[in-house]
Amino acid sequence: MADAADIADLRLLARRRAPRMVFDYVDGAAEGEQSMARAVAAFERVEFRPRVLRDVAEAPTAVEVLGRRIAMPVVLGPTGFTRMMHRAGEPAVARAAERAGVPYVLSTMGTTAASDVAAAAPGGWNWFQLYVVRDRARSLEMLARATDAGMDVLVVTVDVPTAGARLRDVRHGLTIPPALRWRSVLQAARHPAWWFDFLTSEPLRFATVDGAPGDLAGITNMMFDPSVTIADLEWIRSAWQGRLLVKGVQRVDDAKDLAAVGVDGLVVSNHGGRQLDRTPTPLELLPHVVDAVGDRTEVFLDGGVRSGADVAAAVALGARACFVGRAYLYGLMAGGEPGVRRVLDLLHAELARTLRLLGVDGVSGLGPDAVHLRR
Ligand code: FNR
Repeated sequence: MADAADIADLRLLARRRAPRMVFDYVDGAAEGEQSMARAVAAFERVEFRPRVLRDVAEAPTAVEVLGRRIAMPVVLGPTGFTRMMHRAGEPAVARAAERAGVPYVLSTMGTTAASDVAAAAPGGWNWFQLYVVRDRARSLEMLARATDAGMDVLVVTVDVPTAGARLRDVRHGLTIPPALRWRSVLQAARHPAWWFDFLTSEPLRFATVDGAPGDLAGITNMMFDPSVTIADLEWIRSAWQGRLLVKGVQRVDDAKDLAAVGVDGLVVSNHGGRQLDRTPTPLELLPHVVDAVGDRTEVFLDGGVRSGADVAAAVALGARACFVGRAYLYGLMAGGEPGVRRVLDLLHAELARTLRLLGVDGVSGLGPDAVHLRR
C-alpha cells in the first residue's frame, strides 16, 4: 500500500484486486461517461499561480465546516453497497475518516446500520445521506436511526428521480448482491480472494431499505420517490434537528431556491457522472454558485477529486470542502481499511505540499487569486 505514490496507483491496484464487475460498478458512470470524464479533466485546466518568498513554515490544512473544525477540507461522501468493494465496508471507511479527522457520510444504500457505523468510529463525525423513499414513514424512520446513532448532519441527495443508465453494469449483468453465475465464474477464477471473502462474509444486504436482489436500477426505481419537490425539503427541514445539506445541485437558479429554504449547505455535484450524462462540470460551475449563494450557505464541491492539489484548487475557487467518492473506494478495493487510510494520508500530504508551493500559509489563505482555469 505504501508503494502507491498517488490515488491513480491505488486505482490500478483496485483493478487488479476486485472482480471486473465490482471495479466497474465503482469506476464507471452513466451512458457515454462524459459527465465523469469532464469532471476529472476540469482539474487539468487548473493553473496554479504561486507566490514566492512567503513564510509557509506553518501551512495548516484544517478548516471549519458547519461550525466544526475538521483536519482538512475533505468529506468522504456517501456510496452505496460499500461492503461489496471490500468486506470491511462502511465501518472501515468510518474508522479511517475518524483517524484522519474528516467526516464520513453513510448512504441510504449502505450495507451497515447507522448504529454499527457509530460503534466503529465513536469519535468520528458521521453524517447520514437520505434518499427520500416512497414510504415517507420509512424516510422518517431512517432519520430517527441516524439521530439515535449521533449523526447530526443530513445530506439529502436530490439527483436520483430515476436511476442513471450505468452501461458497464448492464453489460456485466451486475446484480446487487453479485451472483456467481456463468458470466462471473471466469472473474471468480481470476479473483479468488475477493470471492472467498464475499462468500464467507455475512450476506450483503441494504441496512436501511428493503431490496430484493436485483439490478440496482430496478431497486432504485422501485424504492425512490420521483415526485419529491422543494416542498418536501421544507418537510425534512422541520423533521430534522441537525444541519441539512442538499447534494446534487447543478444550476444557479436551483441553488438560489435552496438557499431561500434555509439549507445549511449545498453540494455542487452531478453524482460523479452516474446520473444524467453531459451535465455541467462541478469545478467550473462552482464559482457561479458561490457567487450567487456563498454568503448565505456553505458550498461544497463533489466530483472528479483525485488528489490534494484538486482539493486546493476547489477550495481556491470557493468550495468550503470537497466530497470524494471513488478516490476512497479505490483505496478500499485495493486494501480495505489501510487502503482508505492511504488515500487520506495522500490527500493530506498533497494538500499540505500544494499550499506551501503556492505560497499560502494555510487553507484559509486560498482564494481565487491562487488559480486560473485555462480555456
Ligand atoms: C456513489 N454516489 C452516491 N451518492 C449518494 O448520494 N448516495 C449513494 O448511495 C451513492 N452511491 C455511490 C456509489 C458509488 C460506487 C459511487 C462511485 C458513487 C455518488 C458519490 O457520493 C459522489 O457524488 C461521487 O462519487 C463523486 O464523484 P467522484 O469523487 O467519485 O469523482
